[in-house]
Amino acid sequence: MLRVLVILVALGAELWAQSPALESAARECRRAGFDRAAVAFEVKPELGRESFSIERNGKKTVIAGGDSTGVLYGAFALIRAKQLHETLPKRETPYAPIRWVNQWDNLDGSIERGYGGRSIFFANGAVLADLSRAGEYARLLASVGINGCTVNNVNADVRVLSPEFLKQLARIADVFRPWGVRLSLAVDFASPQKLGGLDTFDPLDARVAEWWKEKADEVYREIPDFAGFVLKADSEGRVGPSAYHRTHADAANVLARALAPHGGILVYRAFVYNHHMDWRDLKNDRARAAYDNFHPLEGAFDPNVVLQIKYGPIDFQAREPVSPLIGGLAQTNEALELQITQEYTGQQRHLCFLAPMWKQVLDFSFGPGARVKELVAGKTHDRPLGGFVGVANVGNSPNWLGSDLAPANLYAFGRLAWNPNLSAEQIAQEWTELNWGRNAKVVRTVDDLLLRSWRVYEHYTGPLGLGTLTDILHGHYGPNIESAERNGWGQWIRADHEGIGMDRTVATGTGFVGQYPPAVARVYESLATTPDDLLLFFHHVPYTYRLHSGETVVQYVYDSHYAAAHEAQLFPQEWAELRGLVDETRFERVLAQLTYQAGHAIVWRDAITNWFARESGIADEKGRVGHYPGRYEAEKMQLDGYVEYDITPWEDASGGKGVVCKSASCTAALVFQGGDGRYDLAVQYFDLPGGSAKFRLRVNEREAGAWTGDLELPSKIPNGDTSTRYTVKDVRLRRGDRIRIEGIPDGPDSAALDYVEVCPQ
Ligand code: GCU
Repeated sequence: MLRVLVILVALGAELWAQSPALESAARECRRAGFDRAAVAFEVKPELGRESFSIERNGKKTVIAGGDSTGVLYGAFALIRAKQLHETLPKRETPYAPIRWVNQWDNLDGSIERGYGGRSIFFANGAVLADLSRAGEYARLLASVGINGCTVNNVNADVRVLSPEFLKQLARIADVFRPWGVRLSLAVDFASPQKLGGLDTFDPLDARVAEWWKEKADEVYREIPDFAGFVLKADSEGRVGPSAYHRTHADAANVLARALAPHGGILVYRAFVYNHHMDWRDLKNDRARAAYDNFHPLEGAFDPNVVLQIKYGPIDFQAREPVSPLIGGLAQTNEALELQITQEYTGQQRHLCFLAPMWKQVLDFSFGPGARVKELVAGKTHDRPLGGFVGVANVGNSPNWLGSDLAPANLYAFGRLAWNPNLSAEQIAQEWTELNWGRNAKVVRTVDDLLLRSWRVYEHYTGPLGLGTLTDILHGHYGPNIESAERNGWGQWIRADHEGIGMDRTVATGTGFVGQYPPAVARVYESLATTPDDLLLFFHHVPYTYRLHSGETVVQYVYDSHYAAAHEAQLFPQEWAELRGLVDETRFERVLAQLTYQAGHAIVWRDAITNWFARESGIADEKGRVGHYPGRYEAEKMQLDGYVEYDITPWEDASGGKGVVCKSASCTAALVFQGGDGRYDLAVQYFDLPGGSAKFRLRVNEREAGAWTGDLELPSKIPNGDTSTRYTVKDVRLRRGDRIRIEGIPDGPDSAALDYVEVCPQ
């Protein structure tokens, strides 16, 4: 009965929304240069929802859609084929019904883990008056087949469901509608109490159920094509059903039943874990949480509930095994949660094209017929719903994500949600040609940068399945290895002087491996078969343990960090070859970004390799770690006004120390001891937010460089988040030359320095 209702109402909503999407399709075709008479549209319900076919009929191209959104997708496919000079697709059907993005926007206009500016939906506790950017976003989403957008943070503000706010939200739905994008909302599970004035939010209390029902009715009066609610409960301090000893299914179902008569769905986040876990207990394991919480509830969820499951068992790391929960459910609708915003993968300041990683996840197999992409496809009798949710967090920056290359991830997410069988290579090429033109050198260079970038990032931030060795307690950006340890958050890497890695085996560890089906579990249980790139996720081994490749763990860490940081140095050089071949504004912006990244990759390399050297007591057999010819520590230079400063954590600065300027202007000077020649001169400084310190570099009295520290980086103190490199290329130096840096602080930016490095050309 329930399922029939879902379909009927969904069709009703579709008829209602028919013409705006058709209008959009017509406008897009005209905008792309198609003659009004050259393209015809028709709606043929037998094609299926959101599907389309494209046929030539004499001189006319006929786009038929199963519904108006299907026509719109057909129009975008036609335009894409034209721009890419490809043959027309004949007929396409989206792979899965749920192709959503989540935005973690707060009502004050900030965005949790957003790196692309302020919210395009909210400011100062209200919906923006001007929603033109929101409309453009919906257009962008539709162009890659995304059909839903949750506009507010999963850590939801209870006010979103207030009557006044719902009226405002209806205006966002209005600008989404012409693009077939349906609005959804993240809600606070305590809303019946906090907003409704009840004395409880117990999901099994009839008054609570009634409150949700009335609230859903009200939402649909304001937004007739509303998509549904998203719920984060009992997670990271959010309240949930545990307050009343109820299950996640109880919580999900009470909302789902309120939405069902309207055809809405309830998306329940499986990101539930205890963040106060006792780290001393070696059997504790956060990775177990999703499966332990949700697997026992199989069969208990209503048909319009979907579990939204992050791809890995921890939290959007650069590499994790696939979450065993995805393969552990057979009757529960599931959606795969991917992260477009690069929270742990360089926050858009680092290039990290994630499609190759997502492809590995999608193609991962739990057994015959049980690849991840098959499990989330929806559309089966037992699981009518399913699909993909990408945490996008676009903002009001001109390029949406704060970087001109990061939108490749948004594009890739949409394309893979539409068709997970596309290759990362094809997606990269499409995106590049659509966004940077079809010059062969440009396409080759951009594609190549995109496709290498994830592995490069992984290899200078923490390989072998350790996750990104970042500061997990604060910005999730720069290196801070031990922030993972000895706290309740459970991102432990279990490092000591003897060895490293989490033992998650059944035999001797946390038993996490046992959550996989036997054939998969066998692979991860044994050291002999665990792939190297997940070794330390599953096993605790000595630093001298030999990988399948033959190297020891510690030497591999040294080598991979040096190799990857070296490769990151090549990125700006390769990009620089495109000068004059792409527009200057974006050329310069990307060059600046890749140059920054190259500098920060060295910070990462040095932090991790030094930490491993100290922890293991094992030297780099190639003699690089801890030995930096040409490097002059700021704290050892001749200082005027600068004072020594201990950096925390120590591995974030060369020698564990830097200097900060305590007066209006300070200098640090050195006498060059190397041989005469041409060098690149690098200054490693700390770019602190809230001010724009000025720096000047002089060789003898000649000015060699001047710059301003005006980046807004995630930490307020000198550390691995703020450590930044400025390089002057090709400087002639003679032994005995005096190299001097002048720093002029600006407010909280103390013009802090780490070192100067004189690098032979
Ligand atoms: C991460 C992220 C949080 C977010 C959470 C979630 O932990 O750092 O900001 O709220 O994921 O996905 O709910």
